[in-house]
Amino acid sequence: MDSLLFFLDVPGRIFTVLFFRQNMNHPDSILILDFGSQYTQLIARRVREHQVYCEIHPFNQAVRAIEILKPKGIILSGSPFSVYQEGSPLPDQSVFETGVPVLGICYGMQVLAHLFGGKVDPAARREFGKARITLKKTGSRLLSGLPDQFQVWMSHGDHLTAPPAGFLPVASTENAPYVIIEDPSRKWYGVQFHPEVVHSEFGSDLLRNFVVEVSGCRQDWTPESFIQTKTEEIRRQVGQDQVILGLSGGVDSTVAAVLIHEAIGDQLNCIFVDHGLLRKNEAEEVERTIRDQFKIKLKVINAHDLFLTELAGVTDPEKKRKIIGKLFVDVFDAEAKKVQGARWLGQGTLYPDVIESVSFKGPSVTIKSHHNVGGLPEKMNLKLLEPFRELFKDEVRLIGNQLGIPAGIVQRHPFPGPGLAIRIISDVTPEKIRLLQEVDHIFISELRGKGFYDQTWQAFAVLLPIQSVGVMGDERTYENTVVLRAVTSVDGMTADWAKLDYNFLGAVSNRIINEVKGVNRVAYDISSKPPATIEWE
Ligand code: XMP
Repeated sequence: MDSLLFFLDVPGRIFTVLFFRQNMNHPDSILILDFGSQYTQLIARRVREHQVYCEIHPFNQAVRAIEILKPKGIILSGSPFSVYQEGSPLPDQSVFETGVPVLGICYGMQVLAHLFGGKVDPAARREFGKARITLKKTGSRLLSGLPDQFQVWMSHGDHLTAPPAGFLPVASTENAPYVIIEDPSRKWYGVQFHPEVVHSEFGSDLLRNFVVEVSGCRQDWTPESFIQTKTEEIRRQVGQDQVILGLSGGVDSTVAAVLIHEAIGDQLNCIFVDHGLLRKNEAEEVERTIRDQFKIKLKVINAHDLFLTELAGVTDPEKKRKIIGKLFVDVFDAEAKKVQGARWLGQGTLYPDVIESVSFKGPSVTIKSHHNVGGLPEKMNLKLLEPFRELFKDEVRLIGNQLGIPAGIVQRHPFPGPGLAIRIISDVTPEKIRLLQEVDHIFISELRGKGFYDQTWQAFAVLLPIQSVGVMGDERTYENTVVLRAVTSVDGMTADWAKLDYNFLGAVSNRIINEVKGVNRVAYDISSKPPATIEWE
């Protein structure tokens, strides 16, 4: 669990929440206007990789975002829409009156064309996938240092058939003359492809050129500068108040605890509700790090029995989630009430939890009730202290490294709030938890031992409610089946199954069957998300 409030059940993943920075002395920044592209967050991550601060705001909030952020450059994202479609998202004219450089990506480029006299037509067929582009020798600063030809990732239906007034073509493919366009006098650019995705060669360099060379941003968004500014801000905000923080064992809450502790020392009170559904040794490791290494005030509540009793006989995954979520809040709330003078609830909420793509079609269907923010602070009458509201997970990891948190915790895979309960595909019992913890432990230690752990986004074991026949020695067995799951992913929204080496998988399977009593069969999950999800429940 990476955020205390992940459990709470607010339907709908897609929502638009704006936050505007306050009291924070940010470095130079880039504004990314979101038109609903699935890649918008990737654009932000790529920009931040160049140590330039950026924020995503919905296209229809541009005026306010510009006023507060005072960006040095603006990026217009892609979109599932066509500029000619009824109700297509178009930005306020004032975006183009700021005088700062503008980069339109895919739909963003078509917005420039549509608004400034170019021509956008539907392509004969959707262009999706790789294309080779050739750069013209124009000396464009956007393309500085890039080779004459390289491969890019396209995903669009419409394309440009005439550039807007003042724009020159600076790159083309065999079929499309206007793959990159530029108006050097206004420093406006359009790219038809997606430089933010890894399949676009030199995409990251192109974005760097836009934010650093063209927009002139200093590259001062670093872990060190973040820690310094944030700790000062937390001190100012909190004053003499007490802060409560729910630890989960995950990366985000652990790093948040250490950062907040840097700022306010013993005014921070950590509470760790151990529901007994964690990975093997996880609770002890959290205690060791938080209490022994960082000397942070920590209350550990062993609530194993309570959770087990309430979960007894429950097989429906959503019901499991609700029970665990509610109990967690109750236990946490009761403990938090004991902290005198508590006014704040510290949380490891991340940027993707805060800002999601603009929804034009209303809330999306809830697939699983998680990734949700809200509820607890109102119930407890606390103000939220969320130092990572602006950060992506990889940035939190960098902060964690900088703060000296052990790599074993900082690099830890995401772990769902309901823990092993949703990896036991039947009712939860102490024996099943123990068995799954052992299996998971073997898998994870082997992954770590072979250096594969950091190459996967998430890896774990699932206990199926299926027994099958086996033979051990001369004996017939009728035991449990476990499934190993390992995926690669950028953000957990989509994922591919990890192509782990067969010999490695074989060795892990042998160890599990030999060492874990009650398991006689191991399977490996080779489904991707979508259509499968990462977890089984
Ligand atoms: P799915 O299974 O939806 O998972 O592909 C995507 C990511 O979310 C995690 N996950 C959860 N996290 N509470 C959480 O805090 C939950 O109920 C929950 N369910 C799934 C999952 O581990 C993966 O990282």
